[in-house]
Amino acid sequence: ETKVTSVDNFMDNKNNYKQAVDILRDGDVVAFPTETVYGLGALATNEQAVQKIFKAKGRPSDNPLIVHIGTIEDVQKYASGITEDAEKLMTAFWPGPLTIVLHKTPGVIAPNVTPGVETVGIRMPDHPVALGLLRALGGPLAAPSANRSGKPSPTEAAHVHADLNGFIPLILDGGQTGVGVESTVLDMTVTPPAILRPGGVTREMIENVIGPVQMESKVVDDQAPRAPGMKYMHYAPSAPLFVIAPDEHEIRKAVAALQNEGEKVAVIGPDEFDIPDADWYFASGPLHDNEKMAANLYRALRQCDLTDANSILAVETDMTGVGAAVMNRLTKAADGKRYINK
Ligand code: TXA
Ligand code: MG
Repeated sequence: ETKVTSVDNFMDNKNNYKQAVDILRDGDVVAFPTETVYGLGALATNEQAVQKIFKAKGRPSDNPLIVHIGTIEDVQKYASGITEDAEKLMTAFWPGPLTIVLHKTPGVIAPNVTPGVETVGIRMPDHPVALGLLRALGGPLAAPSANRSGKPSPTEAAHVHADLNGFIPLILDGGQTGVGVESTVLDMTVTPPAILRPGGVTREMIENVIGPVQMESKVVDDQAPRAPGMKYMHYAPSAPLFVIAPDEHEIRKAVAALQNEGEKVAVIGPDEFDIPDADWYFASGPLHDNEKMAANLYRALRQCDLTDANSILAVETDMTGVGAAVMNRLTKAADGKRYINK
């Protein structure tokens, strides 16, 4: 059985961190909240411990993990050849939802954290519990999202529990995460720097600090993926999901058409929409509020998974701000499918 411990800002959490630190130093894994999603952490210098992450998640072990650090200065221990631009980004966005891919210092981080690459993705999370844990541990945490492989990333401790109960010893429950989608992954070892995964720190925010970057969120099949994780199906609910335009009339028509074919339909859409015939409606926040949509998206996808819907319609948003990350995740969950009425 997995233990769940509440950690909040109004009590003395030393004991909770000690519990977690003891487990981590002992070579096991702990789930903890970050500002993006919950992570499943292991001491990044302990190969056996890191192996337990892959095992608990059921994740292929050729996909590199992000290394989380508790202070900016620690980046020097794990990466080398850090450019002035990379430093500017750390100053501007750390702690925060930006993972920076750098040249790794050989022999420090366990080899299974960064399989097959000479680089390491590092970030300093902006969450009091993540930072409290990292500082109490005094070491780096390798941590992917704390979901079973193929499930949406967890934004609540209950999601972690639903996926990993019995597979891990401890979950630190710090409530709902804030951003709700994973960090931006930016490769600073190529010119121009490449966004491998859009997230909470937007392209515009990055370009304001270091100038032009390239987008590389699509991987061509015959090419070695730069973010190996991109070749795996992620974020997919069990029923087929279709992205649909933000038009109430069109959505009602789509629901009717699908139901005519005998489908049960779940809709993920803005608070304001009224789709009376939908079998389920999961509100993702006010229309055009991309931050709320990011915060609510994964919970909504999980809610769909708990229904017996056989089609899901998810209302798209625009690409401004974190909207680019939201649409990136939705497009993946949909495997590129859109619903268009005949
Ligand atoms: O917000 C987040 O980033 C969350 C929280 C827990 O911090 N973590 C997370 O980790 O989403 P994960 O393992 O689910 O996603 C890491 C992504 C993958 O797409 C992986 O391929 C890429 O980052 N990545 C990590 N290290 C890399 C490296 N050295 N080179 C290229 N891509 C890397
Ligand atoms: Mg993940």
